[in-house]
Amino acid sequence: MSLPALRALPAWASLEQHHRKIKGVHLRQLFADDPARGERLTIEAAGIHFDYSKNRITDETLRLLTQLARESGLAENIEAMFRGERINATENRSVLHVALRAPRGTTILHDGRDVVGDVHAVLDKMEAFTARVRSGAWTGLTGKRIRNVVNIGIGGSDLGPVMAYEALRFYSDRSLTMRFVSNIDGTDFAEAVQGLDPAETMFIVSSKTFTTQETMTNARTARDWLLAGLAAGEAAVARHFVAVSTNAEEVAKFGIDTENMFGFWDWVGGRYSMESAIGLSTMLAIGPDHFRAMLAGSREMDEHFRTAPFERNLPVLMGLLTVWYTDFFGAETQAVLPYEQYLKRLPAYLQQLTMESNGKHVTRDGRLVDYATSPIYWGEPGTNGQHSFYQLIHQGTRLVPCDFIVFAKALNRLGRHHDILAANVFAQAEALAFGKTAAEVEAEGAAERLVPHRTFEGNRPSNLLLMEALTPAALGKLVALYEHSTFTQGTIWQINPFDQWGVELGKALAQRIVPELESAQDPELGHDSSSNALIRRYRKLRDA
Ligand code: F6P
Repeated sequence: MSLPALRALPAWASLEQHHRKIKGVHLRQLFADDPARGERLTIEAAGIHFDYSKNRITDETLRLLTQLARESGLAENIEAMFRGERINATENRSVLHVALRAPRGTTILHDGRDVVGDVHAVLDKMEAFTARVRSGAWTGLTGKRIRNVVNIGIGGSDLGPVMAYEALRFYSDRSLTMRFVSNIDGTDFAEAVQGLDPAETMFIVSSKTFTTQETMTNARTARDWLLAGLAAGEAAVARHFVAVSTNAEEVAKFGIDTENMFGFWDWVGGRYSMESAIGLSTMLAIGPDHFRAMLAGSREMDEHFRTAPFERNLPVLMGLLTVWYTDFFGAETQAVLPYEQYLKRLPAYLQQLTMESNGKHVTRDGRLVDYATSPIYWGEPGTNGQHSFYQLIHQGTRLVPCDFIVFAKALNRLGRHHDILAANVFAQAEALAFGKTAAEVEAEGAAERLVPHRTFEGNRPSNLLLMEALTPAALGKLVALYEHSTFTQGTIWQINPFDQWGVELGKALAQRIVPELESAQDPELGHDSSSNALIRRYRKLRDA
């Protein structure tokens, strides 16, 4: 669908005008004007209580933002995605990660084929494999059972699995040691296999393309490590390596039995793939029932996203709020602050999801944008961040919208810990929104010269997501929530969130530089003077 330029949409102009009126209004005022605001500006969706009252918005803002979503064709775009249309036009692909969590028996057609059946066939295969490994029926070359699983992958073939493993560790089989290798830096591999017995170790080579330089280099190193450790020949590979990929040919070339390959499809983007076979390590760790519960959680959010009116639609609202701060307030970043230690890798996971999706400067039809697109996502678990970078969020010169995430029930109940944790998240959201005036600081008897230092301007916006407990289903809901919020943002910005051409240039250059570093003779260098000098100096230092 061809759209008028974003800035030409009537809602955009109205939002600009509206922003001029609202930008000076303090959250203190908004709360004073409407005593019910804290309950009114909340929604319940798929078991998530979403409090968005501490945002610099009024009912009029919401009306205009949802109007912008309508004028941007969001409803049509959502339907196009769920129908399997090729909305990833630059790669001519459908975008059907929602099919990964469609229940058995439902139908989603892709090029006339029902993909839900294919999805469940792979899930069943993963389940059978998981049962064999977990029961000890699958043995390594020497007959020992598998006790260590090492996932080798990078980007979407690593961040989702690592995040999910950490997030759901509470539910994991503690007799299996799970490790993850992603970086081409040999240290990553060396440390991941420290202390592991090759006879008890299984590698999952996870790569959609099975050509990614880092993953294939690590996979070859793993093969060498295994064969040397077992003093065995190639036959050992089939017992200690499985693959997750869309590329059966390359998998076979590597020496992995394609019987032990778990497939997925080109309509699953790397950063949207953690619930496909890329989640094999997750299933091994938490078991098939928990894995399927995670899928069901995502599915619940998918349904909500597809059916709820924009005004009550959690991913849509979250996405629109990000657009509001990015394009109207000039916010450059978005902090994600889980008050849940198990979610420590969620910000890293979301960085790829959001920034590889929406870090674009060209619209779907190839025009340069004249507005800001994806903010920089970042974050750390609370309360750790409070003793580090929160100072800047409270009193710095930048506006940093925050997503706080907290669960009412602790998984590890230890004395007073959880109430103290929750008290802190509520306190932070309150402090950011309302601050502390100079008059309040004075009334506390602060020395006059300290008053400006101890004053908190407030008016710092945040969302707060409150859920019951961090279950597999809850994680599935959060993942789908951020996926769809990202989709909402990309739709408004008129960009394609599903390609990633921006990673190509560096990859190609690295391919050219590798032989220049490896050559025995001093190579002819044709880069810029800085790159040439760096390459020469590196070679000299390395060989000294
Ligand atoms: O760096 C770009 C990228 O293509 C990501 O989008 C992807 O998740 C990652 O590399 C890994 O790709 P693959 O799964 O094909 O190894």
